[in-house]
Amino acid sequence: MEKEETIIYFVTENIHKFNEISDLFSKTKTNYNLKRKEVETVEIQATNLKEVASFKLNSVKGQISGSYFIEDAGFFVDTPLNGFPGVYSSYVMKTIGNKGILKLIDNFDETQAHFTSVIALYFKPLDVSLFFEGKIYGKVSKTLRGSGGFGFDPIFLPDIIPNKTFAELTTEEKNKISHRGKAWSNFIKFIKENKY
Ligand code: IMP
Repeated sequence: MEKEETIIYFVTENIHKFNEISDLFSKTKTNYNLKRKEVETVEIQATNLKEVASFKLNSVKGQISGSYFIEDAGFFVDTPLNGFPGVYSSYVMKTIGNKGILKLIDNFDETQAHFTSVIALYFKPLDVSLFFEGKIYGKVSKTLRGSGGFGFDPIFLPDIIPNKTFAELTTEEKNKISHRGKAWSNFIKFIKENKY
């Protein structure tokens, strides 16, 4: 039987996110084991991701006895959509999807976009909630490309690998540069600096 103190739960219904975090976790030396947990969470509509993540983290309280984290991400088309869909990413993906985003920016040659990821952790040993953020900048592709990843991956061209969409990268390649990978590095830095 595993001891509760050695487990960190990732509360998510999104198997793609869990696979990405699992890949990152497998390359990290810590005293913990990672487990996925599906519990009821509350997602509010707010103006920034940290607020959404904080509310979601609090909504898990009392349902898990050890340490746990959630992750919230958003896709921001800075040019020409002034950051839309951002905190509305989930709704926009469900309604107009990637094709709808491409239609909205059809007449624009110059695009700029970024992803932001916020990992919100409840860390039992210190009884604190902590937030770790990561961003990646790039452009919007003219067409959907690639079959990997999920969500907006087929239309995002990261500046660092400008000829490939996120969906054309392997999980490992995406993790090395992605918003989630960067938020994860900050998370691990905290665990290591505190010798957990
Ligand atoms: P969530 O609220 O964090 O689950 O994500 C909001 C929306 O952004 C959802 O439609 C996800 O599919 C999408 N999304 C989240 N992370 C990523 C990513 O790494 N790549 C592409 N789309 C993402």
